[in-house]
Amino acid sequence: MNNPYAFREIGIGHYPLGIYDVGDKRVEDLMKLGDENLKSKLLYVHIPFCQSICPFCPYPKAIHNEGVKYNYLTALMREIDLYAQQPHISVNNIEAIYFGGGTPSILTESEIEALFKKLKDALNIETVEEITFEGNPASFTREKVKLLKSLGVNRISLGVQTFNDELGERLGLIQKEKNSVDAIEWCKKEGIDNISIDLMYNLPGQTVEEWVEDIEKVAAYGIHHVSLFPLKVIPVFKLFKLIQAGEVSPCGSLEFEEELFETAATMLEDEGYKPESTYDFVLPGKEHLYSRKHFRGFMDILALGMGAFGEINGCVYQNVMSITEYMGKVSSSQLPVVKWYQVTEKDLPNRYLTMGFRLLEVDRLDFFNKFGVDPEIKFKEIFEKLYSNGLLEAVGQKIRLTKRKGVFWGNNICKEFCIEIFRNAFPK
Ligand SMILES: C[S@@+](CC[C@H](N)C(=O)[O-])C[C@H]1O[C@@H](n2cnc3c(N)ncnc32)[C@H](O)[C@@H]1O
Ligand code: SF4
Repeated sequence: MNNPYAFREIGIGHYPLGIYDVGDKRVEDLMKLGDENLKSKLLYVHIPFCQSICPFCPYPKAIHNEGVKYNYLTALMREIDLYAQQPHISVNNIEAIYFGGGTPSILTESEIEALFKKLKDALNIETVEEITFEGNPASFTREKVKLLKSLGVNRISLGVQTFNDELGERLGLIQKEKNSVDAIEWCKKEGIDNISIDLMYNLPGQTVEEWVEDIEKVAAYGIHHVSLFPLKVIPVFKLFKLIQAGEVSPCGSLEFEEELFETAATMLEDEGYKPESTYDFVLPGKEHLYSRKHFRGFMDILALGMGAFGEINGCVYQNVMSITEYMGKVSSSQLPVVKWYQVTEKDLPNRYLTMGFRLLEVDRLDFFNKFGVDPEIKFKEIFEKLYSNGLLEAVGQKIRLTKRKGVFWGNNICKEFCIEIFRNAFPK
């Protein structure tokens, strides 16, 4: 098969990225905190703890420990206070919230209540449209789901990974199919409007039949939204070493991965799901609002917690990755920001396309109205290459990733529009 790229890129969640060290600069000045400009925002809250660390996972995380968790939550509340001292942050409304991880569901009911109370007291979340709470199926209980619903959570995202317990064991997962099925049932019974699951594919030794069984369960269990992640075996993590040592089977080839993707996409579309992004399929009406407001609306994000990425008043920033440093900085009343970059007018066309293609299509007229030039003229060579490789198609005013090939290579297409200094900052 003639592949347009040697490997598939990881999705770009934020563009541009904070590439400069904060150093001695005052974060409050970089973010122009104190600016009276009222602007709606998104809110991201990172809860890093996991009951057990999966041997393949690159996300900012920490092993669960009651004492550290207590100190982290204390620091998180302090970080909320530091931002809330700025009137325009405490007053302006938050349109959507995402609790990501790690494993937010590891929090106890009283910790969840305390965190929500703090957010409600310090920020304006009265008119929030969507609150997503992420977690591992093994750490949800019916009582927790009931509490989350009562606090306004209307979307739960479960890191199922696979319903197949044998594959799960090979991957070192703690959750079993029963945990996932129970968590889904509790979400349904407690009236959570939008249930999302993560499934990974091209797992060590996984067959097409095993993948088909996982995908059949998406519709059978009444899931509204599914993210399909090809397993990335990253050299520094334990799974890579286990595969190298022959203790775990290797993953399939790129061609096999494409076959798995096409099989899933066809099956999901037959069940009424629509492709929503380079990773996601969704039932109509259950689109992920946070993602739309971020990738298409470029809304500011107030990002809290270790390793979180945000943007305030044109300053993109990243919080420190180490949990100890995070807690140290916040306890001495400093914002835990370590990297920053001021977005310029020049970055905007690249950002529009890098982030826009994540949601599969961009609007040529909207681009022209914003930047005074047709995207295919401004980025002539890139577009010519993508069209000639069969990765993009023009449909009326829209430029779209082609149905299977373009979506399969979607994250590579997004990366085409990144300029060099940011391109090198992304994980491979
Ligand atoms: C930030 S994690 C949070 C989910 C939650 N902690 C859980 O696992 O139950 C988001 C998702 O990234 C995916 N993921 C993690 N490591 C991956 C890897 N090496 N390759 C591909 N996807 C990965 C998993 O599907 C995971 O659910
Ligand atoms: S996949 Fe989820 S549960 Fe596993 S280590 Fe990563 S964040 Fe934690």
